[in-house]
Amino acid sequence: MARPTVAGNWKMNTSLAEAQSLASALKVSIGDMNGISRVLCPPFPYLTLVREAVAGSSIGISAQNMNYQEKGAFTGEVAPNMVAELCDYVILGHSERRALYGETDESVNLKVEAALKVGLKPIICVGETLAQREAGAAESIIEKQITKALDGVDKAGDLVVAYEPVWAIGTGVPATPELAAEIMEGVIQRCLISLYGEPAALEVPLLYGGSVTPDSVQGFVEQACIHGALVGGASLKIDDFTQIIKTVAKVKGVS
Ligand code: 13P
Repeated sequence: MARPTVAGNWKMNTSLAEAQSLASALKVSIGDMNGISRVLCPPFPYLTLVREAVAGSSIGISAQNMNYQEKGAFTGEVAPNMVAELCDYVILGHSERRALYGETDESVNLKVEAALKVGLKPIICVGETLAQREAGAAESIIEKQITKALDGVDKAGDLVVAYEPVWAIGTGVPATPELAAEIMEGVIQRCLISLYGEPAALEVPLLYGGSVTPDSVQGFVEQACIHGALVGGASLKIDDFTQIIKTVAKVKGVS
C-alpha cells in the first residue's frame, strides 16, 4: 500500500514568529510517528527556520512551488537545487498557481521533471473547477492534467498526487469521499497504472485536498484509494493539524 501522507500547505500565511511556534509545536505533537509521512509546506522565506525547528524529528519539508530552470536571470524565482537543499518535497501545479500565475500543464511537466532530477518528491496537484464539473468535463480534465504532468516521467517512485477540486478549496465545503474516490481511483490511479504498471502505481500516495478538517478527514481516508490529505487552512492550527494526522494514522492502521 502507498504510504499514508499528510501535508500542510501554509500558502501565503504566518509571520516568522508564527512559523517558528507552529513548527516547534508540531515537532512535539507529530514529530516521532513512523508509519505516516508528515510534511510542512511553509512560505519560501521560512523554509530554513522551519527546517531547523523540526530538526531531529521525521517531519518532512516542502516548498509550495519552484522554477524549472537551473539558474540564471529570473528575478524572484527559486531554482530546483535551491529547494532541494532545504526540502524533501515540492508542491507543483496547485490550482491557485494555475488560476493566478499562469501555470500550465506544460510548465507543471517541466517542473516535475526538474524536481525528480534533483531528488525532490513532487506533490502534483490536479483538480477541476466548478464550471468544468458542471459541464461534465471533470474526468477528462483530470486525466489531461495528470498525463501531461507525467509526460516523459518513466518512474512512479517519488511521486505524490493530490486531487484538489477547485470548488472545494477554502470554501468550507469538501467533496464527498465517494466523489473524490471516483476521480482518484477511476482516473488518477487508472492513469498511473497504465503508465507504470499496477505494483508501482499502487505505491503512489494519493492525497485529497479541499476544506479538510479533523471531522471530514476520516471519511476520505476510509476510502482505500485515498492515502492522506493536502491540508490548507486547518494546517495552520496546531490542534486541528495534529488531529488530522492522528486520524489518518488510525484509519490506516499505522502510528
Ligand atoms: P483548504 O484546506 O484551506 O481548503 O486548502 C486546500 C489546499 O488548497 C491545500 O493545498
